[in-house]
Amino acid sequence: MHSSILLPAALLIAETLSHSPNSYKFDPLQHLAGVAPPFDPLDPPLDPSPPQGCNVTRAAYLIRHAAIYANDFDYESYIEPFVQKLSNTTVNWSTIPTFSFLSTWQNPISDAEQEMLTRSGKLEAAKLGVDIAQRYQGLRTPEKIWTSTAERTVKSAQSLTQGLADDASSIDIVQVSEGGEEGANSLTPYESCPAYSSSAGSDQATAFLNQYAAPITARFNSMSPAFNWTASDTYAIALLCGYETVIRGSSPFCSTSILSPNEWLAWEYTNDLMYFYNTGYGSAVSGAIGFPWVNATMNSLMGTQNNMSNATTDQDLYISFTHRELPPTVIVALGLFNNSAFSGANNINRTMPLNTINHRRAWKSSHILPFLTNVAIEKMGCDSYGFDEGTYYRVLVNNSPQSLDGCSDGPGESCEQGNMTTWLGERAELVGEYGTSCMVDYGNSTDILSIYSS
Ligand SMILES: *[C@@H]1O[C@H](CO)[C@@H](O)[C@H](O)[C@H]1NC(C)=O
Ligand SMILES: *[C@@H]1O[C@H](CO)[C@@H](O)[C@H](O)[C@H]1NC(C)=O
Ligand SMILES: *[C@@H]1O[C@H](CO)[C@@H](O)[C@H](O)[C@H]1NC(C)=O
Ligand SMILES: *[C@@H]1O[C@H](CO)[C@@H](O)[C@H](O)[C@H]1NC(C)=O
Ligand SMILES: *[C@@H]1O[C@H](CO)[C@@H](O)[C@H](O)[C@H]1NC(C)=O
Ligand SMILES: *[C@@H]1O[C@H](CO)[C@@H](O)[C@H](O)[C@H]1NC(C)=O
Ligand SMILES: *[C@@H]1O[C@H](CO)[C@@H](O)[C@H](O)[C@H]1NC(C)=O
Ligand SMILES: *[C@@H]1O[C@H](CO)[C@@H](O)[C@H](O)[C@H]1NC(C)=O
Ligand SMILES: *[C@@H]1O[C@H](CO)[C@@H](O)[C@H](O)[C@H]1NC(C)=O
Ligand SMILES: *[C@@H]1O[C@H](CO)[C@@H](O)[C@H](O)[C@H]1NC(C)=O
Ligand SMILES: *[C@@H]1O[C@H](CO)[C@@H](O)[C@H](O)[C@H]1NC(C)=O
Repeated sequence: MHSSILLPAALLIAETLSHSPNSYKFDPLQHLAGVAPPFDPLDPPLDPSPPQGCNVTRAAYLIRHAAIYANDFDYESYIEPFVQKLSNTTVNWSTIPTFSFLSTWQNPISDAEQEMLTRSGKLEAAKLGVDIAQRYQGLRTPEKIWTSTAERTVKSAQSLTQGLADDASSIDIVQVSEGGEEGANSLTPYESCPAYSSSAGSDQATAFLNQYAAPITARFNSMSPAFNWTASDTYAIALLCGYETVIRGSSPFCSTSILSPNEWLAWEYTNDLMYFYNTGYGSAVSGAIGFPWVNATMNSLMGTQNNMSNATTDQDLYISFTHRELPPTVIVALGLFNNSAFSGANNINRTMPLNTINHRRAWKSSHILPFLTNVAIEKMGCDSYGFDEGTYYRVLVNNSPQSLDGCSDGPGESCEQGNMTTWLGERAELVGEYGTSCMVDYGNSTDILSIYSS
C-alpha cells in the first residue's frame, strides 16, 4: 500500500531532476504580450525577498489594470471581423479535427462587457492586494491610492483594496483625469503628449505578421479552403486565446496543435515590435513620458518634500493604476529591459530586426505589460555585511528584482540613496524633459507629476 502511494511521488521527483530532452513543454499563456494573464516571469530569476540585513521601509507600485473582456482596438480590428467571418462561413468545422471545436464555439465577448474587468481580473487584483499586504507587514495601510479614471482602472484599484486593507473603505481611491492636456501630471501622460503616436509600431508589427503568418494561413487553408484564412485571422486566434482564458478560465484556441510553439513565439515578437516602437526604446519620447512617475515616486519614497511643504502625502505605500502604455515608458525611463545594455553601442533598430526573431532580446512585452503588470520601487533600511549602513532602493518588475544600469552597488544589487539622486539626474538628462520631448502645443503643460500631493 505504501509503495503504491510512494511510487508516483518518486516518479515526479525523477522527472524534475532528470534531463529529459523529449519532454519539451510550452505554455502559450506566457507569451501573450498585452493579453497575457498575470504571471511571474522570473526575468531575471533573482530572489525577490529583501537582501540580507535590509528591511523595506516604503514602497511604490505602478500597476496596469487587471484582465478585461477585450480592448476596443483588439476587438474591432481583429476579433470582430474573425468572429463575423466564422458566423458566415459554409465550412463544416466538425469534419476538420484541428478546428472541430468551432462547430459549437461561441464568442465569449459581448459588446456590453467589452472594456470591463473580468471576474478573474477582479480576483487577481484582490490577490495582488493580499500579496502586497503580506509582503509589507510592517508598513502602514495607505490612506490613498491613485488611478486613472477609466472604469477598468478604477475597478482594479477597488478590487486591490479588498485584498490590501482590513477594511477596504478605509482607503481613499483618488481618480486622476485622463484628459489630453494634463502634461505630465496624470497616470496617462502619453495622452497629453503630442509627439506620442498611438499607432507607432503597427507598420513594423504588420510587416512581421505578414511574413510569419504566411505558412500558417497556407496550412489552415489546406484544411478549410472555403474560409480563406488571412494573417489577421491568425492574429485573432492568439488574442482569443488570451481573452477567452481570462473570461472562461481556458480556451481551445490556446492549443499548440493550432499554432505551434514557434508560431506563438512569432506572435509574441510581433507584439514586442509594436510595443518597442510604440512605448519602448524604439520611440524617442518613451523615456520622457515615463520619467515624471519615476521622479515623483522617488521624491515621495525619499520623503524629501515632507517637511518642507507637506507637498507629499505621508504614506508607506504609494500605489497607482494605469493602462498598458505607462509601465513600458517607466521601464525605459529606468533603463530596464534595454536590448543594447552592456553592448557599448546603442543601435536601437538593429536589436529588433523586422524579418527574423531576436530570441535573445531583453524587450519581451509578455514580461513587461501583461494584465496587472507592476513596477515596484522599494526603499530599504540596510545594515548588511560588507556595505555601509544606510538607505537603499531597488526596482522589481512583476516580482523580479531589476539591476539599475549604473546604480547597483548596494546589497542585492540595490542603489544607495546618495547615488540614486545622482543617477536620477543622469536619467532625466538622458531621456529628456516631458514638455520639450513631447513638443507640447498647449499653454498650461507641466513636467511634474504631483498627484501624490494632498
Ligand atoms: C457575411 O455575409 C454577408 C452576406 O453575404 C456579407 O455582406 C458580409 O460582408 C459577410 N461578412 C464577413 C465578415 O465576411
Ligand atoms: C458536418 O459534418 C458532419 C460529419 O461528417 C455531418 O454529420 C454533419 O451533418 C455535417 N453538417 C452539415 C451542416 O453539413
Ligand atoms: C490645462 O487646461 C485644461 C483645460 O482647462 C485642463 O483640463 C488641464 O487640466 C490643464 N492642465 C494642467 C496641467 O493644469
Ligand atoms: C481572401 O481574402 C483576401 C483578403 O481579405 C481577399 O483579398 C481575397 O479576395 C479572398 N479570396 C477569396 C477567394 O475569397
Ligand atoms: C521631518 O521632521 C521630523 C520632525 O522634525 C523629523 O523627525 C523627520 O526626520 C523629518 N523627516 C525628513 C525626511 O526629513
Ligand atoms: C503640515 O501638515 C501638518 C498636519 O496637517 C500641519 O500641522 C502643518 O502646519 C503643515 N505644515 C506646513 C508647512 O504646511
Ligand atoms: C540602452 O543601452 C545603451 C547601451 O548601454 C545606452 O547607450 C542607452 O542610453 C540605453 N538607453 C536608455 C534609454 O537608457
Ligand atoms: C529606426 O526605425 C525607425 C522606425 O522605423 C525610423 O524612424 C528610424 O529612422 C530608424 N533609425 C535608424 C537609425 O535607422
Ligand atoms: C530590520 O527589522 C528587524 C526586525 O524589526 C530589526 O531587528 C533590524 O534592526 C532592522 N534592520 C534595519 C537595518 O533596520
Ligand atoms: C556609490 O557610487 C560610487 C561610485 O560608483 C561607488 O563607489 C559607491 O560604492 C556607491 N555607494 C554605494 C553605497 O553603493
Ligand atoms: C523632479 O522632481 C523635482 C521635485 O518635484 C523637481 O524639482 C524636478 O524638476 C523634477 N525633475 C524632472 C526632470 O522632472
